[in-house]
Amino acid sequence: MLSVAVLTVSDTASGNHLLDKSGPTAADFLKGHGYRVLHTEVVPDDTQLIRQSVTAWANDRSHPVDLIVTTGGTGFGARDVTPEAVSPLIERHAPGLVHLILSSSLKHTLLASLSRPVAGTIGNTLVVTLPGSVKAVKENLEALSAAGILDHALDLIK
Ligand code: MTE
Repeated sequence: MLSVAVLTVSDTASGNHLLDKSGPTAADFLKGHGYRVLHTEVVPDDTQLIRQSVTAWANDRSHPVDLIVTTGGTGFGARDVTPEAVSPLIERHAPGLVHLILSSSLKHTLLASLSRPVAGTIGNTLVVTLPGSVKAVKENLEALSAAGILDHALDLIK
């Protein structure tokens, strides 16, 4: 069974985890598609804290994580730093997955152009940064899992 970690990046939700709707949405979606959710965490929009979680999960050899999904902090807001936090950690960028995320999202809303997603591999772990809304999380995970793309990518990375 493929393992996943979900990181919610949100100043608001980090103050009160009950306000985190997008992390649980991602976790539920992935569970429903046969993934084992190993970790969920909520951090504020802080570069070092985002990097700390992603690095720890990607390097955890005793509990390997196949996929890390972040949600939030991908926009143009002054506090939105998720792409800048994650991008330097990526060893092999996956522009095709970014293209898939953006092209499918633009069919739902032109506001998708305001998201700056990054995707790629760190060792044997794939990391993908999704926007922060529940709607966007569902739409993006639907697009990534359509036609078995995500499963196939993770099989190739292993
Ligand atoms: N992508 C999809 N598929 N659906 C959406 O509703 N919302 C957009 C965009 N991407 C959206 C989407 C909006 S309104 C914003 S501001 C950006 O994602 C960035 O969101 P974030 O800052 O929460 O990461």
